[in-house]
Amino acid sequence: MNFKHICIIGLGYIGLPTASTFAKYGIRVTGVDNNSEVLEALKHGKVHIYEPGLSEVVGAAIESGNLCVAAAPVEADAFIIAVPTPFYGEKKADLSFVRSAAESIVPVLREGNLVVLESTSPPLTTEEIVRPILEKSGLKAGIDFKLAYSPERVLPGQILRELIENARVIGGVDRSSAEAGRDLYGIFVKGDILLTDATTSEMVKLMENTYRDVNIAIANEFSRLADRFGVDVWEAIRIANRHPRVKILNPGPGVGGHCISVDPWFFVEAAPDLTPLIFNARKVNDSQPEFVMKIIERALGALTGKHIAVLGLAYKPDVDDLRESPAIDVAKLLVKDGAVVSAYEPFKPDFIVAGVKMVHSLEEAVSQADLVVLLVGHSQFKSLDPKRMATITSTRLVLDTVNGWDNQAWQEAGFKVIKLGKGKM
Ligand SMILES: NC(=O)c1ccc[n+]([C@@H]2O[C@H](COP(=O)([O-])OP(=O)(O)OC[C@H]3O[C@@H](n4cnc5c(N)ncnc54)[C@H](O)[C@@H]3O)[C@@H](O)[C@H]2O)c1
Repeated sequence: MNFKHICIIGLGYIGLPTASTFAKYGIRVTGVDNNSEVLEALKHGKVHIYEPGLSEVVGAAIESGNLCVAAAPVEADAFIIAVPTPFYGEKKADLSFVRSAAESIVPVLREGNLVVLESTSPPLTTEEIVRPILEKSGLKAGIDFKLAYSPERVLPGQILRELIENARVIGGVDRSSAEAGRDLYGIFVKGDILLTDATTSEMVKLMENTYRDVNIAIANEFSRLADRFGVDVWEAIRIANRHPRVKILNPGPGVGGHCISVDPWFFVEAAPDLTPLIFNARKVNDSQPEFVMKIIERALGALTGKHIAVLGLAYKPDVDDLRESPAIDVAKLLVKDGAVVSAYEPFKPDFIVAGVKMVHSLEEAVSQADLVVLLVGHSQFKSLDPKRMATITSTRLVLDTVNGWDNQAWQEAGFKVIKLGKGKM
């Protein structure tokens, strides 16, 4: 298939880099978002999310005339849906964004078009939710128009490179739909393009993130065991990983973000009778902030009135994404236990967490602290000079939950270092 004009619905962390990359490769792209602030920002050449290199690529795409933005889909050769798929209250998938995005395509869907769902979705979403909505147009999927599911597997912080280099999975509702998807993404994808059916590709994406969640859960459980048995989990993992068939991941304060902490629930919701391991892995990772709290309480006793400086609130290093972040859970638990919490998140200094004082500098965060807690391994935190830290705070107690600091250097600067998963002092 030949694509001259595509319409991308949802201009967030996934949709915007995808839109600007297609535009960079000479395709006319209409980027659609139902958030007027996003559209206004983009119209003025401003990018509302942080991703390295994205501002430049978006700016160039708009400048070239290849990328324009709109509040609703327009006629095009292909449509890509990249809207959120969060969960609500009871860890149930919220597919309202996918539904409304598909509905918005119906009036402009034409014979010969391709529609691709990219949003991470529970099994059968393409077949049982998106297909019937699109077929309200009177056109039949696989016959009059092509329909495929293609999950996004990029790593935030590396999105622009990984979009092009990663292997891409495309699952069609029939073979010709998968092949149309290959023609579309083949415009810029240099990695392998793997064709399958729509439901398999939905499962592939969920399996990838569930696999990582379960593996992080076992690392987190190891950190608790190491704490109990007086072992340094980081040393134990390093040694275990010398086994040729073992690759244990890193423990930490929990698992967050829009993907790994969410997607396994889609399996649990779809088949609760088949997913006890996945369910319990989620429980372990969701309760890791409480383990961090136990470590803090062991160090400080009752927390009422204690000043605690929290370094980092993002769900992982060097990103501005705070969705489902376990660091925020730790900050909230500290507040609940009566601590006076100052948090410094350099990628989103004005974020609001009830009861937490958000500050704009490291100095402000640590000046009054009884304890400094490293919750996110942002590069600027990992490279902190402990000697400098000793001049801006009077506390000599730090907790490192991500193995970001070199114990010896911090001890030499006069600090007592507590490390998550290091039962051996
Ligand atoms: N962020 C990641 O790193 C990542 C990685 C892989 C997969 N995913 C998946 O990709 C999907 C998109 O995630 P994201 O991080 O880009 O989300 P996001 O929240 O950053 O962006 C989604 C955008 O869609 C817009 N939107 C919502 N409903 C709409 C509608 N009906 N019409 C038009 N616009 C609409 C929102 O205003 C928002 O700007 C999700 O399913 C997510 O799980 C995300």
